[in-house]
Amino acid sequence: MPHPVHILPAINALADALRNYISAYTQIAVLVDENTQQHCYPLLREHLPAHHLIQIKSGEEQKHLGTCQHIWQCLTDWGFDRKGLLINLGGGVIGDMGGFCAATYKRGIAFLQLPTTLLAQVDASVGGKLGIDFMGYKNHIGVFQDPLAVLVYPAFINTLSDRELRSGFAEIIKHCLIRDKNKWLEIAHRPLKDQHFSDLIAHSIDIKKAVVEEDPTEKGLRKILNFGHTIGHAIETHFLGKENRLLHGEAIAVGMIAENYLAAKRGWISIDECESIAQHIMRLFGKVALSEDDIAQSLPHALQDKKNEKGAIQASLLGAVGNCGYNHAIALSEIEEALQWYAALPSA
Ligand SMILES: NC(=O)c1ccc[n+]([C@@H]2O[C@H](COP(=O)([O-])OP(=O)(O)OC[C@H]3O[C@@H](n4cnc5c(N)ncnc54)[C@H](O)[C@@H]3O)[C@@H](O)[C@H]2O)c1
Repeated sequence: MPHPVHILPAINALADALRNYISAYTQIAVLVDENTQQHCYPLLREHLPAHHLIQIKSGEEQKHLGTCQHIWQCLTDWGFDRKGLLINLGGGVIGDMGGFCAATYKRGIAFLQLPTTLLAQVDASVGGKLGIDFMGYKNHIGVFQDPLAVLVYPAFINTLSDRELRSGFAEIIKHCLIRDKNKWLEIAHRPLKDQHFSDLIAHSIDIKKAVVEEDPTEKGLRKILNFGHTIGHAIETHFLGKENRLLHGEAIAVGMIAENYLAAKRGWISIDECESIAQHIMRLFGKVALSEDDIAQSLPHALQDKKNEKGAIQASLLGAVGNCGYNHAIALSEIEEALQWYAALPSA
């Protein structure tokens, strides 16, 4: 039975849903970072019974074992037993890591996901993937585990920076490109500030839920959700820890453009479609400057992709706009060629 995802348009509806889920729990902890503590927690505090607050520093750099130890330590110090509940109030980092800590603490306690970034609302909070980064590799250690529920309050995104909002929008673009060509055509021409976010959040969640329900543990179809991520993750990992670090969605924007080149090369989408999508995405995201060194140093990271089988890189590529296939073997030299093609594109 898949976990419920509730989209709650008003704060009262969020409070009611929250009350409903937490009523069975006496030990409750809320995990926040400094930004969600400032912008989101005040909206919830009055609707929660007595609880503990775990605050961690924001950012992908915190998504590691050391932070998990701190979270497990807090739960242990407060005497949490297996009937405890962890509420993850934050973006994808809080959701992935808090969920991972809950799923492994005393072999698993219940957790609620309250995603507060656009990216987490449309992607990270649905599908039960939890985990942390390890040795520089994204989401290298983790588990599949469903939360009690996901409570999506779209208005949380109102306090996001433009850059974070745009990063989340990349996953909305992805969902349209893999499943809904008409929606893609609808959003492609609209500036970010004019997008209808509440609608798009619901649309993306519907797509992701439908795919995940068909293939919860990513044996097949679910891999289409990784469109843009084979090359995107390699680029993201390369820039991790550098001054010009990319946000997840910014890297995925590059990945979608580069992977479309591989689909066009195979004749599955036309080169016109491929270039038009690239122009629309770059108009929103700008173009990431990729030197020959950046490209060369990104390539080995593609070999760590979790979709790879027996050492072969497997990508999810568009078979048409609005339709995506998976398990397509691609050579490292093709990724290099695709990134060189990207690097040579005119800026939008
Ligand atoms: N589990 C999955 O299926 C899945 C899918 C996609 C991405 N992810 C993961 O999600 C992570 C990225 O998520 P993210 O982009 O949400 O990053 P994030 O959690 O780091 O949040 C981005 C920034 O926004 C701040 N923030 C969060 N909510 C805010 C709000 N309402 N107002 C103001 N600031 C706010 C955070 O403090 C942080 O500084 C990555 O680690 C990625 O691997 C997981």
